[in-house]
Amino acid sequence: MTDATSSLPAAFFPPSAPPNFTRADFGPDFHWGAAAAAYQVEGAWQLQGKGPSIWDDFTRRKGAVRRGEHGRVATDFYHRHATDLDLAQAMGLTDFRFSAAWPRVLPAGVGAVNRRGLDFYDRLVDACLERELRPWVTVYHWDLPSALQAKGGWANRSVVGWLADYAQVLAHRLGDRVQHWMVLNEPMVFVGAGHLLGVHAPGRRHLGAFLAAAHHATLAQAEGGRALRALLPATARIGTTFSCSYLTPHRPGHARDEAATRRADALLNRFFVEPALGLGYPVAELPALRWLLERYHRPGDEQRMQFDFDFWGIQNYTREVVKFSPWLPLQWATLVPAKRRGVPHTDMGWEVYPESIYEMLKQYAAYPNAPQLVVTESGAAFPDVKAGGAVADAERRAYLQAALGQVLRARRDGLDVAGYFAWTLTDNFEWAEGYGPRFGLVHVDYQTQERTVKSSGLWYRDFLRWPGAAG
Ligand code: NOJ
Repeated sequence: MTDATSSLPAAFFPPSAPPNFTRADFGPDFHWGAAAAAYQVEGAWQLQGKGPSIWDDFTRRKGAVRRGEHGRVATDFYHRHATDLDLAQAMGLTDFRFSAAWPRVLPAGVGAVNRRGLDFYDRLVDACLERELRPWVTVYHWDLPSALQAKGGWANRSVVGWLADYAQVLAHRLGDRVQHWMVLNEPMVFVGAGHLLGVHAPGRRHLGAFLAAAHHATLAQAEGGRALRALLPATARIGTTFSCSYLTPHRPGHARDEAATRRADALLNRFFVEPALGLGYPVAELPALRWLLERYHRPGDEQRMQFDFDFWGIQNYTREVVKFSPWLPLQWATLVPAKRRGVPHTDMGWEVYPESIYEMLKQYAAYPNAPQLVVTESGAAFPDVKAGGAVADAERRAYLQAALGQVLRARRDGLDVAGYFAWTLTDNFEWAEGYGPRFGLVHVDYQTQERTVKSSGLWYRDFLRWPGAAG
């Protein structure tokens, strides 16, 4: 995907003027963070007792990942986390979000704990605290132990209990120091891309597996929340994260496109949120979910899917334009790619549309009983220009500023948005896209593992220097 975008003129997303807001406008308690995930950065895939994960397996499949890349070394965060956290601290961040790798902690997914693996997260938490970075732990960011995939993985209802037990292992060890927890990372992505589209691990393309995995993820999200709450101090904040995109119809006012947009919204933005609130699945917009209810939903699940989260993590990268599609088996909706629409887009092919974050914060905050919102991921992949020891990334800096402006806009509307986590601190392994797209505030030379703070990272540092405005 880098091909088309890298040939675009640099001015296609013009660097913005200095912001007309400062850090102080977000209030003194706002969480300023960056986020990462185990498989994307850690490497050390077989070290110190770690078991294999579905991403270790998937990346071995021919054609699964661009250029055959994998996360066996990644950014070597396992050994270099002190350096990376130093950079986060120097940038002025107050919070750092990471995930624990389930097979590092429980190599077989269940049963015996790998002491050395758990020790790593213990040290990581301490390393954050030593730098006055509040650690935010994601329990599951897509690296299911292979041993559990062999038993059906997310398509096996037992995953609900497996996940809850694993969450408790983490809570037991880290709960005295970690205040902020997230159960799942973007369930619609690991369920949909992993079980229906087949482009992420475990690489399945099966409607039944998708529906089963979706239901089990909904249950696990709530059960994981309960498991954490049972062990953590009352002051702990328990959340989970959702992927989301602001959706607009391809032809506004066109009845079929409008209806397709509502269906896509139900699937992409509402699916995992509403059951947690006790609203059930959006079956009216997605009649195919009747199969899910008939086959996988058991008496009592309506209650089991509910959990009173302390916050929702909102993860947004773009908007999508939706068109009615008569061709798909379910006759529903297709997304019109940004390239085809001829609009500015990132190296992922995603439209540059920072307003999407504001729209989604509004949409989620509008639910009665919506908890506090935290932007647990926001970012953009753009090409970096490396010259003379510096890395220029004007587009990313402009995107970051624009996204922050949209978060502030939401706060000024009265929404309870408590933090912003840039995706991501350092460049890393972008799943099926490999190491091509770079999202980091810090550039990584994958040959030498050398880190260079990009101009976006330097801008963020200047912005965070309380209370002055950044230039
Ligand atoms: C969301 C995922 O949580 C993260 O792992 C991924 O790298 C970013 N989106 C960018 O695609």
